[in-house]
Amino acid sequence: MSEIIPHLETQNLNAYYGSTQALEDVSIVIPRNQITMIIGPSGCGKTTLLKCLNRFIELEENARIEGKVLLDGENIYSPSVDVTEVRKKSGLLAQRPYPLPMSIFDNVAYGIRIHRLHSRGQLHQAVQHYLQVAGLWEEVKDRLHAPASQLSIGQQQRLCLARGLAVEPEIILGDEPTSALDPISAQHIEKRLIELKQRYTIVLVSHILRQARRLADYVIFMYMGRVVEAGPAHQVFNNPQHERTRAYLSGEF
Ligand SMILES: Nc1ncnc2c1ncn2[C@@H]1O[C@H](COP(=O)(O)OP(=O)(O)OP(=O)(O)O)[C@@H](O)[C@H]1O
Ligand SMILES: [Mg+2]
Repeated sequence: MSEIIPHLETQNLNAYYGSTQALEDVSIVIPRNQITMIIGPSGCGKTTLLKCLNRFIELEENARIEGKVLLDGENIYSPSVDVTEVRKKSGLLAQRPYPLPMSIFDNVAYGIRIHRLHSRGQLHQAVQHYLQVAGLWEEVKDRLHAPASQLSIGQQQRLCLARGLAVEPEIILGDEPTSALDPISAQHIEKRLIELKQRYTIVLVSHILRQARRLADYVIFMYMGRVVEAGPAHQVFNNPQHERTRAYLSGEF
């Protein structure tokens, strides 16, 4: 049994949208170099929790949070922390791909350019590298300068993965990143994520239990804004400690 080394941690996290409380006293750890899956019924706070992990929650006009989110032990909400630095450390893979209205090449180069300056040759190499890591290179290498909008949705999602990786994050956050994809494209993304956990910490929201069983090393089960149960995937799936977890896993709600 491997020991859990937390990369992220929340302590007594509460989140509110106006007067609605969306997260209540959430204290969890996110293990390093593993895939953590946040599961639970619609409206239970999965997306909200994910957004708290990279301060995207602050982009919601009416949102307010209390408590701490520690990244390598440092509270990302402390006043001395630069929010841009926090967000750079985590790439977000949205439910639907949002390629920028530019070429395939430029979509990936964009992530690289804004952080580091490169010569043309280096830039090309780097773009190729991230497209390869995202599993898209072979399909696009002959049309790098075509508009990204010409790609299929599944290809666009891998392009967004490549763009996200180009920023050199430590953490990949995904909010149902395969839900808009066909099964084959979803498999492509899942395969990449499994490879990527060697180097990144990955946190995914999913309401597909079969997918959670395929991918998760660590599971957080939420219900009505609270964490009911969290632990290694084999434990939560095979031997849940709470009746509500058991009911959810058996499809009772
Ligand atoms: N911008 C917002 N303003 C007001 N309420 C919000 C906002 N975003 C989310 N909520 C509410 O907060 C609660 C948690 O929402 P959240 O999106 O985190 O749930 P979720 O678990 O991701 O659900 P789903 O599986 O449907 O995506 C819900 O009651 C939702 O209606
Ligand atoms: Mg959601």
